Order: sequence, then structure tokens, then C-alpha cells
Amino acid sequence: MKPFYITTPIYYVNDKPHIGHAYTSLACDVIARFKRLDGFDAKFLTGADEHGQKIEKAAAVKGIAPQAFVDEVSQSFRSLSDLLDLTNDDFIRTTEPRHVTAVQHLWKRLFESGSIYLGEYAGWYAVRDEAFYQEDELVEGKAPTGAEVEWVKESSYFFKLSAWAEPLLEYYAKHPEAIQPESRRNEVLRFIEGGLRDLSISRRTLKWGIPVPGDPDHVMYVWLDALTNYLSALGYPDDGYQFHWQQSIHVVGKDILRFHAVYWPAFLMAAGITPPKTVFAHGWWTVEGEKMSKSLGNVVDPVEMVDSFGSDAFRYFLMRDLSFGQDGDFSKTAFINRLNTDLANAYGNLCQRVLSFIYKNGEATIPTPGELTAEDHALVNLPAQLLPTLRTHIDNFHLNRYAEAIWQVIGEGNRYVDAQKPWALKKDDSLRMNTVLYNLCSLIKNVAILTQPILPLASSKILTILQAGNKDFSALEVALSPGQKIDEPQPLFAKHVV
Ligand code: MSP
Repeated sequence: MKPFYITTPIYYVNDKPHIGHAYTSLACDVIARFKRLDGFDAKFLTGADEHGQKIEKAAAVKGIAPQAFVDEVSQSFRSLSDLLDLTNDDFIRTTEPRHVTAVQHLWKRLFESGSIYLGEYAGWYAVRDEAFYQEDELVEGKAPTGAEVEWVKESSYFFKLSAWAEPLLEYYAKHPEAIQPESRRNEVLRFIEGGLRDLSISRRTLKWGIPVPGDPDHVMYVWLDALTNYLSALGYPDDGYQFHWQQSIHVVGKDILRFHAVYWPAFLMAAGITPPKTVFAHGWWTVEGEKMSKSLGNVVDPVEMVDSFGSDAFRYFLMRDLSFGQDGDFSKTAFINRLNTDLANAYGNLCQRVLSFIYKNGEATIPTPGELTAEDHALVNLPAQLLPTLRTHIDNFHLNRYAEAIWQVIGEGNRYVDAQKPWALKKDDSLRMNTVLYNLCSLIKNVAILTQPILPLASSKILTILQAGNKDFSALEVALSPGQKIDEPQPLFAKHVV
């Protein structure tokens, strides 16, 4: 099987998961599920970033040792998978031995290649961003991100990042797909063209990190540590890591693109490892028009959303409402309107009116069709014909268009029901009624196969009612068997009041 590898950033576990974390993880899940249904050996990784000053401080505030603190708080990130029905194959924590081994190995490779030297760092450090800033980058005494900074002056190992500006530009010229979307790629290229400074990659005044091989007075800079998770989860330094690595995609928020598209590929090239195939940076959510923040008290909690609306609904809204890559606004009214219109009215209604009708009036059995008209064929073939377009949408990260395209087919299905009126045919043309209902069952089965990546629970319910066996994309070509029993349909999506 062809390999495919997709990763979320590993999350800082100093706080609870919010909509931002849920968003990246969901996008990766949709893509991973699609690729598996499409016959790929797709590996999906997420995890926790547990070292560094930010975590050390958060643990100190709670009066707990850092290891005990991360053991506890990483659980809420791990449980996001159950909550949102994520199909990650692994959950890596940077405090695990397999990761420590991989990071120390990478460090040694960098050291042996002459890419690391000991010097002294004097400059600003923002704990919130876990990032170094030069004096000229500060804006009114703060980091450009608004984070507080503190002065750091200490002995430090440096990575010769300055040597990698040209090789990175050459690499990106040859691999236009390596940074997406294009606007973000341009930002990164402008940044590299401005010249790169060597990067401090160790801290002496910090204890909570991975010790530098051969000099345990230093711990590694948390970003060098964290970025390596993408390799350690594949078993690096064992050679087997290369199988998935060659098809690697990192999905990240726009705020952490520089770490992924400048530092990370430079570390990798210096260690003789190919950079990731693609880094995709998505936008940020605001909430009801405002920046999301704890002080405003408007943080969207995925647990609350799933409790009130269900995981499918939350997944659908996040994937459908925003063009992936752009910023967007989370508004409860827009959320509920979309659930009512697209899920309850369009998809739910199509399934309910067809399947209940068959259950009540057709002896709960898939009917035997007569001859199909040209119009019937056109309708029934829509889902399978859509697959190549959906593939393109997934490969281009156009996740909202994925849903949009399927909902056009659902619209066609509802129009067909209205036009063919199976309830009217019941009186005088039962053969035609059976043909119409059979066509609709075929359509619903195939639509449900295509909606699995976004709506895993509802799709699975539909496929179970129809007792459709195999559920990967090859099942689009498998016809339903007339005479087969169907289970009693239940409403799939609740309607909500705005
Ligand atoms: N630990 C680092 C990543 C290391 S990866 C080697 C980190 N963690 S984080 O928990 O702070 O952020 C994780 C992700 O959440 C980032 O991709 C960030 O862009 C995303 N988001 C945080 N707030 C967000 C929104 N309001 N909207 C969308 N995504 C947001 O950074």
C-alpha cells in the first residue's frame, strides 16, 4: 500500500484543549480517514509537547513536579481523540524514552556534521511562544506576538542556521508544494531572503528538558525537541521511519509556520534527512468576532460543544464553514443554522423520508428495481463520479469544498424525491415506485460512504441500516441487493433552536 503520513502539532499541555486544537486535529483526521478509504497506508500522529519553560512554570504554579503535572494534563489532550472520534494511530509525548532517544540521536548527527557550536546567547525570550527575539523585533517592549519577554544571557549551543538560507531557498524553488497555501509560502520565502541568524538551541538555566548529549548542564531548546516528535513516532533512527516520512504532511496553525518551514527543514537537511513533503498552515478562529482569550472568557470548549451538539455536528461545522487556510469566526448562530440546514434538513431528511418510507411501506426490504431512465442513471452515478473531484479537494486541502460538493449531490437527491413522489406512485405504479426507491437507497449508501471522513457516526449508522458491508471507496461500485432487509431508521440529526 502507498504510504501517507499526516501530523498535528504536538500541543502544549499547560492548559485545556480548545477549538484551535480541535480544529487542527479534525482536519488531519478527515484527511487521514479519506486516505485510508482510498487505499493508502495512512498514519496519523498527534501528541503532547511536554518540555520547556512554559510547562515548567505551569507546574510550579500548581506546586507539582513537572513530570507529575504533564502525566495529568496530557490526558485531556489524549481524550480529544475519543471526544471527536479521531483516528490517530499514535499519541506521542516528548517525555517518552522513544522520543528522548530520537532527539539525542538527531543532536549527535547535527553535532558530527559541524552544525552546532558553543557560544553565548544574549537576547530576549518569550516563554509563551518559547521563542527568542532580537531587540529590533520587539514591539513596545513585547514580542511581535504580544507575549511578554525576559532578558536571557547565558552560555548556549547554537545551530548554524545562517548557513541554510540559500539551500532552503533552492529547495523551496524546486518543491512548490512544500509550503501551502501559496500566500504563506511567500511569507516564508521573504523571511528567509531577509537572511537567517544562528539559532540558540540549548538552555542552561532550565532543567525541564532533554539533556544535551555530552553536556548535561544544558537542556535542548524545546522546539528542537518538539519538532523531532514527527520522526520519533516513526521509529527514527531506525531506517523504517523513511517509508512514511517520504509522504509526510505537517498541518500547523499560521503562528508556528516559521518553526516548521524554516528551522525544522534546516535541522533535517543538516542531519542528511529530507524535509517534510508539505507543511500546510491553517488560519485562526475568532469567537463571535473577538479574539479568543481566557481573559475575555470566550474560549470555545470542544467538550461543551460535543455534549450539546454531538461530535459529528461539531466536526461538520468546523470543516464546512471555513475555507481551510483562511481565518474565520465561530458564531453559535451560524453553527446552529448550518446544523439545521445542512444536517437535519438536507442530509437527515433525505435519509429519513426514503428509509422510513421503505421501512413502513416496503416491508423493510430493499426494493427490486425495474428499468432505469437516463435521469435515474444520472442521479445514481453522481457519488462515484464525484470521487476524483473529492480526491483533488483533499490533496489541495480544500476541506470545505469536500463537504460542499457532497451536499450538492444530497440536494439532487432531495429534488429527485420531490419530483418522483414515491408516495404518489404507491397508488398506481408500484414498479416505478420500487425503481425510484432503489435508486435512492443506492444514492444514500454511496453518499454515506463519501461522508465518512467528516461524519463518521452518522455515516456508519446509515451504512448499518442499509447493511452495506464493505465501506471503503471500492464499495461505491457495489450494488445493493434487492430483497435485503433494512434496520429501522432513527433520525440522524437533531434540530436546534438558535
Ligand atoms: N507545542 C507547540 C507546537 C509544537 S509542534 C512541533 C504549540 N502548541 S499549542 O498548543 O500552543 O498550539 C497548537 C496549535 O493550536 C497551533 O497550530 C495553533 O496555531 C493552534 N491554535 C491555537 N489557537 C487557535 C485558534 N484560535 N484558531 C485556530 N488554531 C489555533 O504551538
